[in-house]
Parts: sequence; C-alpha cells; structure tokens
Amino acid sequence: MKIAVAGKGGVGKTLIAGTLSRLFAKDGFKVLAIDNDSAMNLSYTLGIDNEVKEKIVPISEMKKMIEKRTNVPGAGPGVYNINPRVSDIPDKYKVSGPDGLQLLVLGGIEEPATGCLCPENALIRTLLHNLLVKRDEVIVVDFEAGLEHLGRGTAKGIDVMLVIAEPSQKSLDLCHKVIDLSKKLGVINIYLIANKVIDESQTDIINERINEWNIPLYHSIPYDSVIGKADLEGVSPIDYNPDSKAVKSLISLYSKLKQLKVELFDI
Ligand SMILES: Nc1ncnc2c1ncn2[C@@H]1O[C@H](COP(=O)(O)OP(=O)(O)OP(=O)(O)O)[C@@H](O)[C@H]1O
Ligand SMILES: [Mg+2]
Repeated sequence: MKIAVAGKGGVGKTLIAGTLSRLFAKDGFKVLAIDNDSAMNLSYTLGIDNEVKEKIVPISEMKKMIEKRTNVPGAGPGVYNINPRVSDIPDKYKVSGPDGLQLLVLGGIEEPATGCLCPENALIRTLLHNLLVKRDEVIVVDFEAGLEHLGRGTAKGIDVMLVIAEPSQKSLDLCHKVIDLSKKLGVINIYLIANKVIDESQTDIINERINEWNIPLYHSIPYDSVIGKADLEGVSPIDYNPDSKAVKSLISLYSKLKQLKVELFDI
C-alpha cells in the first residue's frame, strides 16, 4: 500500500506520516518511509538514531550521482536524460530505523513554477514514480505542502492520499486545492484528516465546509501538548508517550488504514 500525506505547512503531516510508518513497522509490515519535504525532519518522528541521522545525505543533494545518472554522452550543455535509471537508488541509500523500518530522504523538489526543470528534479520525479509504482512495501510519503510536482503517472501509484487539515479555513483552502488536484491526477482514495482538534465545534465547522467536496472527514486527531514536548526533546512521539491522546488517536487511524488495506488488496 502506498500512502501519501499532504497538506498546508505545519498541520502535522510529518507527525502523521512518521507515526503511521512506525505503526505499520511494529505490526510486522515492510515499511519504507519517504521524506520529500525540504525541511527533512521525518527522521525525528520516526525515531532514527542520531548517528544514522547525522550521516543522511538527501538524494536531491547528491550532485555527482545525479550528474552521472542524467548525463547524455556526447550531448551539449543543458541536455540531460529526464528518465534516468533509478531502480537501485532506494536500496542503496535508504537507512534503517526502529521496528525494522527504512527511511529514504529525497529532500525537497523545486516546483516547476520556478522554471527549474533541472536534473535534480528529473531524478527525484523519476524516483518518486519508481517508489510509488514499482515497489511492493508499505510506502508512506511525507510530501511538501503543494503537490505540483506530482505527475499523473506517479499519482496513479498512490493508493491512499491523506489530506491533513487543522481547524482553520486557510488550511482547508489548501486541502480543497490538494483534493481537486489529486482527483484530476486520478487518485481514487482521498481522505481528509483533521489534526490539532480542540473540541467538537471545530469538527462541526470542518464538516460544514467540506460538505460539498464529496470527501469524508475520515479521522480527527486531538490537540495534545505531549507532541510539542516530544518535538522539543527530539524524541519520536510514539516512543515519548505511546499513551498520549494524539498517539492513541493515530493508533486508531492506523487500524482503519489496515482494514482499508485488506479491502483494497487482500479480497
Ligand atoms: N495533534 C497535535 N497536537 C499538538 N501539537 C501538534 C499536533 N500535531 C502536530 N503538532 C505540532 O505542530 C507542529 C507541526 O507538526 P509537523 O511538523 O508534524 O507538521 P508538518 O505539516 O509536517 O509541518 P511542515 O509543513 O513544516 O513540514 C509541530 O511543532 C508539532 O509538534
Ligand atoms: Mg513536515
């Protein structure tokens, strides 16, 4: 199952992507978590060892490797291969984390709007396609805010798109855009998740706003000060306090996704 997590900056994408990866791994699934955010902080939420973390070089910064892969022998400057060989990259550069999970840090990707169709982007895009379409593990991708770099072919590989909102109209505005784009790109299972919810009146307002989107509010995760404390100490929330209310809620989200996995693949 390939799960993508998207939403506005700061809504809790990394918390959700990281904790779900841990829960799948704890349950015995083979998991590859993908950090595709330029801030690259998924390793904290996953609880990757410091010595491992310090050595991680994001794929987007492996200039020599990118140059080699995208090189077109004999071609002049500015000409490069937009479909480089990438199939060996995940296994070569992934690192191991707790519960046997693996992490691949892609780094951020320049949006095409900036006019940068550079080799780094070509390689990352091809790699995302390879990860989402060709691999057979549970893959969880922590995406950057927008999904502009998602092509139709890559999006087709996404089995479940989790769109994260916090209780604010601004974050719902972006969710609306992400949902529209995902639908256009052919993603079928799109679910809205509310995070940092303080009381029911907030979910009522969210439900009112999303009424005509034809997307259910799949799950809501409470605001929980434990998450901030874990962040401050640099500890994975699931290790810091597995009984905290946000982690418990993520465990219940995990159960729903596991059930969905059975419905999608095992029947
Ligand atoms: N349920 C929650 N309760 C309290 N704080 C939360 C909750 N979820 C996330 N946070 C806090 O909100 C901040 C943003 O969370 P997180 O990094 O997971 O979001 P993000 O969407 O990945 O952000 P970015 O766009 O910067 O990558 C963090 O400081 C985190 O501790
Ligand atoms: Mg993040």
